[in-house]
Amino acid sequence: MKPIAVVLGTRPEIIKMSPIISLLAEKKLPFYIIHTNQHYSKELDQIFFEQLKLPQPDYSLEVGSGTHGEQTGKMLQRIEKILIENPPSFTLVQGDTNTTVAGALTSSKLHIPVGHVEAGLRSHDRKMPEEINRIITDHISDLCFVPTEKQRHILLNEGIPDQKIVITGNTIVDAVYRNIKMMNMEILSRLGLKEKQYFLATIHRQENTDDPVRLEEIFSAITFAGKKYNLPVIAPLHPRTVKKLKEYQIEVKAPIKVIPPVGYFEFLALLKHTRLVITDSGGLQEESCILGVPCVTARENTERPETIEVGANILGGVRKKTLLSAIDAMFHVEPNWKNPFGDGKSSNRIIQKILAFLQKHNKI
Ligand code: UD1
Ligand code: UDP
Repeated sequence: MKPIAVVLGTRPEIIKMSPIISLLAEKKLPFYIIHTNQHYSKELDQIFFEQLKLPQPDYSLEVGSGTHGEQTGKMLQRIEKILIENPPSFTLVQGDTNTTVAGALTSSKLHIPVGHVEAGLRSHDRKMPEEINRIITDHISDLCFVPTEKQRHILLNEGIPDQKIVITGNTIVDAVYRNIKMMNMEILSRLGLKEKQYFLATIHRQENTDDPVRLEEIFSAITFAGKKYNLPVIAPLHPRTVKKLKEYQIEVKAPIKVIPPVGYFEFLALLKHTRLVITDSGGLQEESCILGVPCVTARENTERPETIEVGANILGGVRKKTLLSAIDAMFHVEPNWKNPFGDGKSSNRIIQKILAFLQKHNKI
Protein backbone atom coordinates (compact mmCIF):
# COMPACT_ATOMS: atom_id res chain seq x y z
CA MET A 1 0.00 0.00 0.00
CA LYS A 2 1.29 3.44 -0.91
CA PRO A 3 1.36 5.89 2.02
CA ILE A 4 -1.46 8.18 3.07
CA ALA A 5 -0.42 11.85 2.82
CA VAL A 6 -1.54 13.91 5.81
CA VAL A 7 -1.49 17.62 4.94
CA LEU A 8 -1.58 20.18 7.74
CA GLY A 9 -0.32 23.68 8.44
CA THR A 10 -1.99 25.47 11.34
CA ARG A 11 -2.58 25.01 15.06
CA PRO A 12 -6.13 23.64 14.83
CA GLU A 13 -5.18 21.24 12.03
CA ILE A 14 -2.30 19.83 14.07
CA ILE A 15 -4.60 19.35 17.07
CA LYS A 16 -7.52 17.87 15.14
CA MET A 17 -5.32 15.63 12.97
CA SER A 18 -3.29 14.43 15.95
CA PRO A 19 -5.55 11.52 16.97
CA ILE A 20 -5.65 10.31 13.35
CA ILE A 21 -1.86 10.51 13.03
CA SER A 22 -1.36 8.66 16.32
CA LEU A 23 -3.77 5.94 15.24
CA LEU A 24 -2.13 5.55 11.81
CA ALA A 25 1.18 5.06 13.63
CA GLU A 26 -0.33 2.62 16.16
CA LYS A 27 -1.86 0.57 13.35
CA LYS A 28 1.50 0.65 11.51
CA LEU A 29 -0.17 2.02 8.38
CA PRO A 30 2.17 3.81 5.98
CA PHE A 31 1.77 7.60 5.98
CA TYR A 32 3.72 10.81 5.69
CA ILE A 33 3.09 14.33 6.95
CA ILE A 34 3.29 17.41 4.76
CA HIS A 35 3.47 20.59 6.86
CA THR A 36 2.95 23.77 4.86
CA ASN A 37 4.27 25.85 7.82
CA GLN A 38 1.35 28.25 7.41
CA HIS A 39 1.91 28.44 11.17
CA TYR A 40 5.57 28.48 12.14
CA SER A 41 5.91 30.31 15.48
CA LYS A 42 6.80 27.69 18.09
CA GLU A 43 3.71 28.38 20.19
CA LEU A 44 1.40 27.86 17.18
CA ASP A 45 3.28 24.87 15.77
CA GLN A 46 6.13 22.85 17.32
CA ILE A 47 4.70 22.88 20.83
CA PHE A 48 1.81 20.73 19.62
CA PHE A 49 4.09 18.20 17.90
CA GLU A 50 6.00 17.88 21.17
CA GLN A 51 3.03 17.69 23.54
CA LEU A 52 0.92 15.43 21.34
CA LYS A 53 3.94 13.20 20.61
CA LEU A 54 3.55 13.47 16.86
CA PRO A 55 6.27 12.42 14.45
CA GLN A 56 8.04 15.39 12.91
CA PRO A 57 6.74 16.33 9.45
CA ASP A 58 8.35 14.44 6.57
CA TYR A 59 8.08 17.56 4.43
CA SER A 60 8.21 21.12 5.75
CA LEU A 61 7.25 23.53 3.00
CA GLU A 62 8.22 26.78 4.73
CA VAL A 63 5.33 28.68 3.12
CA GLY A 64 4.81 31.08 6.04
CA SER A 65 2.56 34.14 5.99
CA GLY A 66 1.34 36.19 3.04
CA THR A 67 -1.77 37.32 1.23
CA HIS A 68 -4.29 34.58 0.52
CA GLY A 69 -3.18 34.22 -3.11
CA GLU A 70 0.51 34.33 -2.31
CA GLN A 71 0.23 31.83 0.50
CA THR A 72 -2.10 29.42 -1.28
CA GLY A 73 -0.10 29.69 -4.52
CA LYS A 74 3.15 28.68 -2.81
CA MET A 75 1.36 25.79 -1.15
CA LEU A 76 -0.08 24.53 -4.44
CA GLN A 77 3.35 24.52 -6.10
CA ARG A 78 5.14 22.89 -3.20
CA ILE A 79 2.53 20.28 -2.29
CA GLU A 80 2.14 19.24 -5.94
CA LYS A 81 5.89 18.60 -6.23
CA ILE A 82 5.79 16.17 -3.30
CA LEU A 83 2.65 14.38 -4.44
CA ILE A 84 4.34 13.78 -7.81
CA GLU A 85 7.68 12.67 -6.35
CA ASN A 86 6.16 10.46 -3.65
CA PRO A 87 2.62 9.61 -4.80
CA PRO A 88 0.34 8.69 -1.93
CA SER A 89 -2.64 6.33 -2.14
CA PHE A 90 -4.84 8.94 -0.47
CA THR A 91 -4.59 12.52 0.81
CA LEU A 92 -6.15 13.65 4.04
CA VAL A 93 -6.90 17.31 4.82
CA GLN A 94 -8.73 18.85 7.77
CA GLY A 95 -10.81 21.95 8.40
CA ASP A 96 -11.01 25.17 6.43
CA THR A 97 -7.64 26.87 6.12
CA ASN A 98 -5.63 27.82 3.06
CA THR A 99 -3.58 24.68 3.73
CA THR A 100 -6.75 22.57 3.58
CA VAL A 101 -7.85 23.83 0.19
CA ALA A 102 -4.30 23.68 -1.24
CA GLY A 103 -3.86 20.05 -0.13
CA ALA A 104 -7.22 19.04 -1.58
CA LEU A 105 -6.80 20.90 -4.87
CA THR A 106 -3.31 19.63 -5.72
CA SER A 107 -4.33 16.11 -4.88
CA SER A 108 -7.58 16.04 -6.82
CA LYS A 109 -5.89 17.48 -9.93
CA LEU A 110 -3.41 14.62 -9.78
CA HIS A 111 -6.34 12.18 -9.44
CA ILE A 112 -5.22 11.18 -5.97
CA PRO A 113 -8.30 10.57 -3.81
CA VAL A 114 -8.87 13.16 -1.08
CA GLY A 115 -10.64 12.89 2.24
CA HIS A 116 -11.86 16.01 4.06
CA VAL A 117 -12.01 15.76 7.83
CA GLU A 118 -14.63 18.09 9.37
CA ALA A 119 -16.52 18.44 6.09
CA GLY A 120 -19.91 20.05 5.54
CA LEU A 121 -19.64 22.99 7.96
CA ARG A 122 -21.20 26.20 6.66
CA SER A 123 -21.47 29.69 8.14
CA HIS A 124 -23.28 30.82 4.96
CA ASP A 125 -21.02 33.87 5.03
CA ARG A 126 -18.84 33.97 1.95
CA LYS A 127 -16.88 36.95 3.25
CA MET A 128 -15.07 34.49 5.50
CA PRO A 129 -12.00 33.04 3.76
CA GLU A 130 -12.72 29.81 5.62
CA GLU A 131 -16.18 29.46 4.05
CA ILE A 132 -14.67 29.55 0.55
CA ASN A 133 -12.06 27.00 1.58
CA ARG A 134 -14.71 24.67 3.03
CA ILE A 135 -16.97 24.80 0.00
CA ILE A 136 -14.17 24.15 -2.49
CA THR A 137 -12.63 21.38 -0.40
CA ASP A 138 -15.93 19.56 0.10
CA HIS A 139 -16.76 19.66 -3.58
CA ILE A 140 -13.44 18.22 -4.75
CA SER A 141 -13.14 15.58 -2.04
CA ASP A 142 -13.80 11.90 -2.64
CA LEU A 143 -14.75 11.31 0.98
CA CYS A 144 -16.36 13.95 3.19
CA PHE A 145 -15.99 13.05 6.86
CA VAL A 146 -18.79 15.05 8.48
CA PRO A 147 -19.16 15.48 12.25
CA THR A 148 -22.95 15.05 12.45
CA GLU A 149 -26.10 14.34 10.43
CA LYS A 150 -26.53 18.11 10.03
CA GLN A 151 -23.49 18.44 7.76
CA ARG A 152 -24.59 15.41 5.74
CA HIS A 153 -27.79 17.28 4.90
CA ILE A 154 -25.88 20.42 3.98
CA LEU A 155 -23.72 18.47 1.54
CA LEU A 156 -26.66 16.53 0.08
CA ASN A 157 -28.43 19.86 -0.54
CA GLU A 158 -25.34 21.07 -2.40
CA GLY A 159 -25.51 18.01 -4.64
CA ILE A 160 -22.71 15.95 -3.14
CA PRO A 161 -23.62 12.27 -3.49
CA ASP A 162 -24.48 10.38 -0.30
CA GLN A 163 -21.88 7.69 -0.96
CA LYS A 164 -19.12 10.27 -0.55
CA ILE A 165 -20.40 11.34 2.87
CA VAL A 166 -19.43 9.56 6.09
CA ILE A 167 -20.71 10.66 9.52
CA THR A 168 -17.79 10.25 11.89
CA GLY A 169 -18.13 12.74 14.74
CA ASN A 170 -15.48 15.43 15.12
CA THR A 171 -11.88 14.40 15.86
CA ILE A 172 -11.70 17.27 18.36
CA VAL A 173 -13.59 14.97 20.76
CA ASP A 174 -10.87 12.32 20.29
CA ALA A 175 -8.24 15.01 20.92
CA VAL A 176 -9.94 16.34 24.06
CA TYR A 177 -10.56 12.86 25.50
CA ARG A 178 -6.98 11.75 24.77
CA ASN A 179 -5.37 14.82 26.29
CA ILE A 180 -7.59 16.04 29.10
CA LYS A 181 -5.72 13.88 31.61
CA MET A 182 -2.55 15.70 30.61
CA MET A 183 -3.94 19.18 31.31
CA ASN A 184 -1.45 21.34 33.12
CA MET A 185 -3.01 22.99 36.17
CA GLU A 186 0.25 24.75 36.95
CA ILE A 187 -0.76 27.53 34.54
CA LEU A 188 -3.64 28.51 36.83
CA SER A 189 -1.38 28.99 39.83
CA ARG A 190 1.25 30.72 37.67
CA LEU A 191 -1.37 33.27 36.58
CA GLY A 192 -2.90 33.49 40.05
CA LEU A 193 -6.28 32.13 38.89
CA LYS A 194 -8.94 30.34 40.88
CA GLU A 195 -11.28 27.78 39.33
CA LYS A 196 -14.40 29.38 37.81
CA GLN A 197 -13.20 32.82 38.88
CA TYR A 198 -11.84 34.15 35.62
CA PHE A 199 -12.88 34.59 31.99
CA LEU A 200 -10.92 33.20 29.05
CA ALA A 201 -10.88 35.09 25.75
CA THR A 202 -9.35 34.41 22.33
CA ILE A 203 -9.90 36.54 19.23
CA HIS A 204 -8.20 35.97 15.89
CA ARG A 205 -10.72 35.85 13.00
CA GLN A 206 -9.70 38.06 10.08
CA GLU A 207 -13.15 39.74 9.97
CA ASN A 208 -12.65 40.84 13.61
CA THR A 209 -8.94 41.62 13.76
CA ASP A 210 -8.72 43.52 10.49
CA ASP A 211 -11.60 45.87 11.30
CA PRO A 212 -10.54 48.54 13.86
CA VAL A 213 -14.12 49.32 14.92
CA ARG A 214 -14.98 45.71 15.56
CA LEU A 215 -11.71 44.98 17.32
CA GLU A 216 -12.14 47.97 19.60
CA GLU A 217 -15.79 47.06 20.39
CA ILE A 218 -14.90 43.46 21.18
CA PHE A 219 -12.06 44.35 23.53
CA SER A 220 -14.09 47.08 25.13
CA ALA A 221 -16.92 44.59 25.82
CA ILE A 222 -14.50 42.07 27.31
CA THR A 223 -12.89 44.71 29.55
CA PHE A 224 -16.31 45.90 30.70
CA ALA A 225 -17.47 42.35 31.49
CA GLY A 226 -14.34 41.63 33.52
CA LYS A 227 -14.92 44.81 35.54
CA LYS A 228 -18.63 44.18 35.98
CA TYR A 229 -18.13 40.67 37.36
CA ASN A 230 -14.88 41.60 39.08
CA LEU A 231 -13.03 38.75 37.35
CA PRO A 232 -9.70 38.72 35.52
CA VAL A 233 -9.78 37.91 31.81
CA ILE A 234 -6.97 35.74 30.45
CA ALA A 235 -6.36 36.35 26.76
CA PRO A 236 -3.80 34.09 25.05
CA LEU A 237 -3.71 36.13 21.88
CA HIS A 238 -2.83 34.97 18.37
CA PRO A 239 0.08 37.04 16.93
CA ARG A 240 -2.27 38.37 14.25
CA THR A 241 -4.40 40.04 16.95
CA VAL A 242 -1.42 41.44 18.83
CA LYS A 243 -0.16 42.96 15.58
CA LYS A 244 -3.51 44.55 14.73
CA LEU A 245 -4.12 45.92 18.24
CA LYS A 246 -0.77 47.66 17.97
CA GLU A 247 -1.43 48.92 14.45
CA TYR A 248 -4.82 50.40 15.42
CA GLN A 249 -3.42 51.67 18.73
CA ILE A 250 -6.06 49.86 20.74
CA GLU A 251 -4.89 49.65 24.31
CA VAL A 252 -5.80 46.45 26.13
CA LYS A 253 -6.57 47.35 29.71
CA ALA A 254 -7.01 45.54 33.03
CA PRO A 255 -8.65 43.28 33.98
CA ILE A 256 -7.62 41.72 30.64
CA LYS A 257 -4.26 39.99 30.90
CA VAL A 258 -2.72 39.26 27.51
CA ILE A 259 -0.40 36.27 27.37
CA PRO A 260 1.26 34.54 24.39
CA PRO A 261 -0.56 31.50 22.96
CA VAL A 262 -0.11 28.49 25.23
CA GLY A 263 0.36 24.76 24.61
CA TYR A 264 -2.59 22.37 24.42
CA PHE A 265 -2.14 20.96 27.94
CA GLU A 266 -2.08 24.47 29.40
CA PHE A 267 -5.00 25.60 27.26
CA LEU A 268 -7.16 22.62 28.26
CA ALA A 269 -6.58 23.53 31.92
CA LEU A 270 -7.51 27.19 31.30
CA LEU A 271 -10.59 26.24 29.32
CA LYS A 272 -11.90 23.53 31.63
CA HIS A 273 -11.78 25.84 34.66
CA THR A 274 -12.93 29.15 33.25
CA ARG A 275 -16.31 30.54 34.20
CA LEU A 276 -17.01 31.44 30.61
CA VAL A 277 -15.15 31.69 27.32
CA ILE A 278 -15.44 34.61 24.90
CA THR A 279 -14.07 33.70 21.50
CA ASP A 280 -14.33 33.84 17.72
CA SER A 281 -12.49 30.52 17.34
CA GLY A 282 -14.16 27.57 15.66
CA GLY A 283 -12.39 24.92 17.70
CA LEU A 284 -13.11 26.63 20.99
CA GLN A 285 -16.84 26.66 20.40
CA GLU A 286 -16.58 22.88 20.12
CA GLU A 287 -14.16 22.26 22.98
CA SER A 288 -16.06 24.44 25.44
CA CYS A 289 -19.23 22.57 24.54
CA ILE A 290 -17.45 19.23 25.07
CA LEU A 291 -15.99 20.33 28.42
CA GLY A 292 -19.23 21.84 29.78
CA VAL A 293 -18.05 25.46 29.69
CA PRO A 294 -20.43 28.25 28.59
CA CYS A 295 -19.29 30.10 25.47
CA VAL A 296 -20.03 33.51 23.97
CA THR A 297 -19.03 33.70 20.32
CA ALA A 298 -17.92 37.11 19.08
CA ARG A 299 -19.43 36.63 15.64
CA GLU A 300 -22.75 37.10 13.88
CA ASN A 301 -22.90 33.55 12.56
CA THR A 302 -21.42 30.16 13.24
CA GLU A 303 -20.78 26.97 11.33
CA ARG A 304 -21.13 25.13 14.66
CA PRO A 305 -24.91 25.57 15.32
CA GLU A 306 -25.01 22.38 17.42
CA THR A 307 -23.28 24.28 20.22
CA ILE A 308 -26.08 26.83 20.25
CA GLU A 309 -28.84 24.24 19.97
CA VAL A 310 -27.64 22.38 23.07
CA GLY A 311 -27.39 25.65 25.02
CA ALA A 312 -23.60 25.74 25.33
CA ASN A 313 -22.97 28.74 23.12
CA ILE A 314 -24.58 32.01 22.13
CA LEU A 315 -23.80 34.40 19.29
CA GLY A 316 -22.81 37.70 20.85
CA GLY A 317 -22.25 39.59 17.63
CA VAL A 318 -19.35 42.03 17.38
CA ARG A 319 -20.70 45.09 19.16
CA LYS A 320 -20.13 45.99 22.80
CA LYS A 321 -23.81 46.09 23.65
CA THR A 322 -24.74 42.74 22.08
CA LEU A 323 -21.65 41.03 23.45
CA LEU A 324 -22.38 42.23 26.95
CA SER A 325 -25.96 40.97 26.91
CA ALA A 326 -24.68 37.62 25.63
CA ILE A 327 -22.14 37.43 28.46
CA ASP A 328 -24.86 38.28 30.99
CA ALA A 329 -27.08 35.59 29.51
CA MET A 330 -24.40 32.88 29.67
CA PHE A 331 -22.91 33.84 33.04
CA HIS A 332 -25.41 31.87 35.12
CA VAL A 333 -26.06 29.04 32.68
CA GLU A 334 -26.03 25.54 34.16
CA PRO A 335 -23.73 23.41 31.98
CA ASN A 336 -25.91 20.32 31.68
CA TRP A 337 -25.90 19.77 27.93
CA LYS A 338 -24.69 16.71 26.05
CA ASN A 339 -21.71 16.86 23.72
CA PRO A 340 -23.15 16.72 20.18
CA PHE A 341 -19.84 16.02 18.41
CA GLY A 342 -19.47 12.28 18.88
CA ASP A 343 -17.96 9.63 21.10
CA GLY A 344 -14.23 10.27 20.65
CA LYS A 345 -13.82 7.44 18.13
CA SER A 346 -13.98 9.55 14.98
CA SER A 347 -10.36 8.92 14.00
CA ASN A 348 -10.86 5.18 13.87
CA ARG A 349 -13.99 5.56 11.73
CA ILE A 350 -12.10 7.79 9.33
CA ILE A 351 -9.20 5.36 8.98
CA GLN A 352 -11.49 2.34 8.52
CA LYS A 353 -13.41 4.18 5.80
CA ILE A 354 -10.21 5.14 3.97
CA LEU A 355 -9.00 1.52 4.06
CA ALA A 356 -12.36 0.28 2.72
CA PHE A 357 -12.24 2.93 -0.01
CA LEU A 358 -8.72 1.92 -1.05
CA GLN A 359 -9.67 -1.76 -1.04
CA LYS A 360 -12.71 -1.07 -3.21
CA HIS A 361 -10.49 0.78 -5.70
CA ASN A 362 -7.85 -1.97 -5.66
CA LYS A 363 -5.22 0.28 -4.07
CA ILE A 364 -4.39 -2.22 -1.32
C1 UD1 B 1 -5.39 30.73 9.97
C2 UD1 B 1 -6.64 30.25 9.22
C3 UD1 B 1 -7.84 30.33 10.14
C4 UD1 B 1 -7.58 29.57 11.43
C5 UD1 B 1 -6.30 30.04 12.08
C6 UD1 B 1 -5.97 29.16 13.26
C7 UD1 B 1 -6.75 30.70 6.80
C8 UD1 B 1 -7.36 31.56 5.76
N1 UD1 B 1 -6.95 31.10 8.07
O1 UD1 B 1 -5.60 32.09 10.30
O2 UD1 B 1 -8.95 29.73 9.51
O3 UD1 B 1 -8.65 29.78 12.31
O4 UD1 B 1 -5.22 29.95 11.13
O5 UD1 B 1 -5.19 29.81 14.19
O6 UD1 B 1 -6.14 29.72 6.48
N2 UD1 B 1 1.57 34.66 12.31
C9 UD1 B 1 2.63 34.53 13.18
N3 UD1 B 1 3.13 33.28 13.38
C10 UD1 B 1 2.65 32.19 12.77
C11 UD1 B 1 1.58 32.34 11.87
C12 UD1 B 1 1.04 33.58 11.66
O7 UD1 B 1 3.12 35.49 13.76
O8 UD1 B 1 3.14 31.08 13.03
C13 UD1 B 1 0.98 36.00 12.08
C14 UD1 B 1 1.51 36.69 10.83
O9 UD1 B 1 1.58 38.05 11.11
C15 UD1 B 1 0.41 36.42 9.83
C16 UD1 B 1 -0.85 36.41 10.68
O10 UD1 B 1 -0.42 35.86 11.92
O11 UD1 B 1 0.36 37.39 8.83
C17 UD1 B 1 -1.98 35.59 10.10
O12 UD1 B 1 -1.57 34.26 9.82
P1 UD1 B 1 -2.34 33.36 8.72
O13 UD1 B 1 -1.79 31.99 8.68
O14 UD1 B 1 -2.40 34.11 7.44
O15 UD1 B 1 -3.81 33.33 9.23
P2 UD1 B 1 -4.39 33.03 10.67
O16 UD1 B 1 -5.01 34.28 11.16
O17 UD1 B 1 -3.40 32.33 11.50
N1 UDP C 1 -5.41 26.57 21.53
C1 UDP C 1 -4.22 26.31 22.22
N2 UDP C 1 -3.57 27.36 22.81
C2 UDP C 1 -4.04 28.64 22.75
C3 UDP C 1 -5.24 28.89 22.06
C4 UDP C 1 -5.90 27.84 21.45
O1 UDP C 1 -3.78 25.18 22.29
O2 UDP C 1 -3.38 29.54 23.29
C5 UDP C 1 -6.09 25.47 20.84
C6 UDP C 1 -7.54 25.25 21.23
O3 UDP C 1 -7.64 24.38 22.31
C7 UDP C 1 -8.15 24.68 19.96
C8 UDP C 1 -7.33 25.29 18.86
O4 UDP C 1 -6.15 25.81 19.47
O5 UDP C 1 -8.00 23.27 19.90
C9 UDP C 1 -8.11 26.39 18.18
O6 UDP C 1 -7.31 27.06 17.29
P1 UDP C 1 -7.71 28.47 16.69
O7 UDP C 1 -8.65 29.14 17.59
O8 UDP C 1 -6.43 29.14 16.38
O9 UDP C 1 -8.36 28.10 15.30
P2 UDP C 1 -9.85 27.79 14.79
O10 UDP C 1 -10.37 26.65 15.57
O11 UDP C 1 -10.65 29.03 14.97
O12 UDP C 1 -9.66 27.49 13.36
